[in-house]
Amino acid sequence: MRRILLGVCGGIAAYKAAALTSFLVQRGDRVDVILTEGAQQFIGPLTFASLTRNPVLTSLWDAPETIPHISLVRAADVLAIVPATANLIAKLARGVADDLLTNAALAARIPIVVAPAMNDAMYEHPATRENLSVLEARGVTIVEPGVGFLAERENGIGRLAEQDAIVAAIDGVLGRARDLEGERVLITAGPTREAIDPVRFLSNASTGTMGIELAREALARGAEVDLVLGPTPVVPPQGAHTVRVTSAQEMHDAALSRFGEADIAIAAAAVADWRPVETFAQKVKKQDGTGSLEVVRTPDVLAALGERKDGAFLVGFAAETEALEQNARAKLRAKHLDTIAVNDVSREGSGFGTGENELVLLWGEAGRRPLGRASKRELARRMWNALLEIRSAR
Ligand SMILES: Cc1cc2nc3c(=O)[nH]c(=O)nc-3n(C[C@H](O)[C@H](O)[C@H](O)COP(=O)(O)O)c2cc1C
Repeated sequence: MRRILLGVCGGIAAYKAAALTSFLVQRGDRVDVILTEGAQQFIGPLTFASLTRNPVLTSLWDAPETIPHISLVRAADVLAIVPATANLIAKLARGVADDLLTNAALAARIPIVVAPAMNDAMYEHPATRENLSVLEARGVTIVEPGVGFLAERENGIGRLAEQDAIVAAIDGVLGRARDLEGERVLITAGPTREAIDPVRFLSNASTGTMGIELAREALARGAEVDLVLGPTPVVPPQGAHTVRVTSAQEMHDAALSRFGEADIAIAAAAVADWRPVETFAQKVKKQDGTGSLEVVRTPDVLAALGERKDGAFLVGFAAETEALEQNARAKLRAKHLDTIAVNDVSREGSGFGTGENELVLLWGEAGRRPLGRASKRELARRMWNALLEIRSAR
């Protein structure tokens, strides 16, 4: 039986936690409920006690002989906080532990799922955005709220996600196998910048999101992760050993120096292919008319990894805009890759900088597996499932 520890906070959507509890209990899960003091303004323990047939805990100071904030998280497989208030999210982000739920969350070594629900202004406030990204970077699964009718009689973002999405997130973290335990994974991600002068550079539109999601998923599956990351505002997961680099040469050096220890390497970075022959020490003055910039090739990081691979499973990415699979198969062979992920960056809403993507994996002579279209987080999950299958079938 799966054990779910459900934290309920003080928001209007607290009543929806009762429907969720009923659903989970009916399908056979054991649910233990913690209500914050705020939650009890909206819904009472009696409702949850009857639905779960378990005592509902509301205070850090009840039943001290069981040390509830520790015993509950030790016994549970997942902590789900539904709905999560702005206040609770802020406390989690900073490690505040001033009631039973926040103490349990701080003591939790189990996966945490947080489903925020609040007024749209509270959700969009920079403090809340920052707190959520801190949690996300720490590996907490956030079930994004939807746009809809809010209690203030306005439409806006901040409405608790639908129950299906919350259940899917809980099942997602519970079903995730620790199938990378004991393995070392090297991931390159993000763009590189090739300096023209102190303020200008050649680069591309990569944000590193796909590689960061692959790193996050690998961590959740138990891997040690080295992440070599080009310049991006996207926050990498805290558990990864992240090395920040700027140029293709730095990415090359950082990736190669860590490659020897890797069991699996995924090159998801969009390394700039050219750099200026000359980097000017001072900002180049604006001039009228046309000009030209002489460029040379940067080191080919993926080819260098392919040449030196010694037992590691090497995965590349191909961001193509034409003859996708043909070009990708040629790259797979030329660079001695074990698998290549093909990404059609010419399609609207796919590829660089977008939350969604569509990937096809190619390997061997004719191996082909479409992963479909999904968020980059979901694609990272599908990609790891597929890569581990491909590797074990070698
Ligand atoms: C009527 C009412 C509705 C509220 N709804 C929300 C809400 O949906 N989301 C939220 O983050 N805070 C909401 N609040 C504010 C929280 O209840 C308040 O921040 C409280 O301290 C939260 O405590 P807790 O996080 O420990 O549950 C609401 C307050 C009131 C009075």
